[in-house]
Amino acid sequence: DKLAIGIDMGGHYIKAALIEGEKFLRRWEEPTFKTRTVEGVIDQLQGIVKQLQPPGYVLPVGVGVPGFLDMDREHVVLLPNFPGWEGLPLKSMLEDGLKTDVAIENDANCFALGEGLAGLAKGLKNLVAITLGTGIGGGIVLDGKLLKGAHGYAGEPGHMAFGKDEPCGCGCRGHLEAISGTDAMEKRAIRLGLPDDMEVLWPRRKEAAVAEIIRPSLNAIAKAIASIVHLLDPEMIILGGGFSRAEGLLQELKPLVQSYLVPHFRDTFRLEISSLGNDAALLGAASLVQDRSTTAA
Ligand code: BGC
Ligand code: NA
Repeated sequence: DKLAIGIDMGGHYIKAALIEGEKFLRRWEEPTFKTRTVEGVIDQLQGIVKQLQPPGYVLPVGVGVPGFLDMDREHVVLLPNFPGWEGLPLKSMLEDGLKTDVAIENDANCFALGEGLAGLAKGLKNLVAITLGTGIGGGIVLDGKLLKGAHGYAGEPGHMAFGKDEPCGCGCRGHLEAISGTDAMEKRAIRLGLPDDMEVLWPRRKEAAVAEIIRPSLNAIAKAIASIVHLLDPEMIILGGGFSRAEGLLQELKPLVQSYLVPHFRDTFRLEISSLGNDAALLGAASLVQDRSTTAA
């Protein structure tokens, strides 16, 4: 037992794995349908679960979802980068579609859970996980417990506001994600006639035109990290998501973060990049359902 399927529903890729305890038995990854509709995603997930499920089993599925969920983790409240999902009873829709037990949780919360189980943050009681990608997400563990807040929405650093006027996927302006999310950076690159691909832009970050896109984004991420440290006094800030793997990111970020910190806070926490990569979110998602018994089909 302890066998489950973990899924991370991303804006560009859906990642999934068959996991036993903390061991990855099989992995799967495919591009998200461009439409990002709920029907499309459920359709895709049906195919993925079929691929991962060993013959003769119906395994429970944990899904990391990129947005705000209600307190009971049944309904979607808002997915900033998946328009039109507001109010959907996603848990029951997935259970109908996948014909098994499903648990849903915010994707960055799943990442924080996975890091705490098996990553660099293993065993830490106070940590903040931040995912840098299409969206910017967060998971906050305080005193050993995932912080949910009064309505279930806690842990949304991507919508901390201190930017200028950039429109965010959530409908507001000036949010961190609208400055430092990878889609936002790529959109600004297009406007400046640059390649719209962070993997191409990042190595060129010292060029003036590219720096104009990347400097403000890094700066905003550093401000967010420093603010979070001041607010919560964590032992670790751990970064995940596609952009966290940009080579040399930490060297760029650390001095910026330090510059915004009150001296007393400068050595109180570790700033790390996840060593688990995508696996952390998948592990966290699977951990939601691993104690549910494995059913033979
Ligand atoms: C959402 C978060 C999510 C993040 C990463 C943000 O737009 O508000 O809930 O964790 O994107 O997917
Ligand atoms: Na979160």
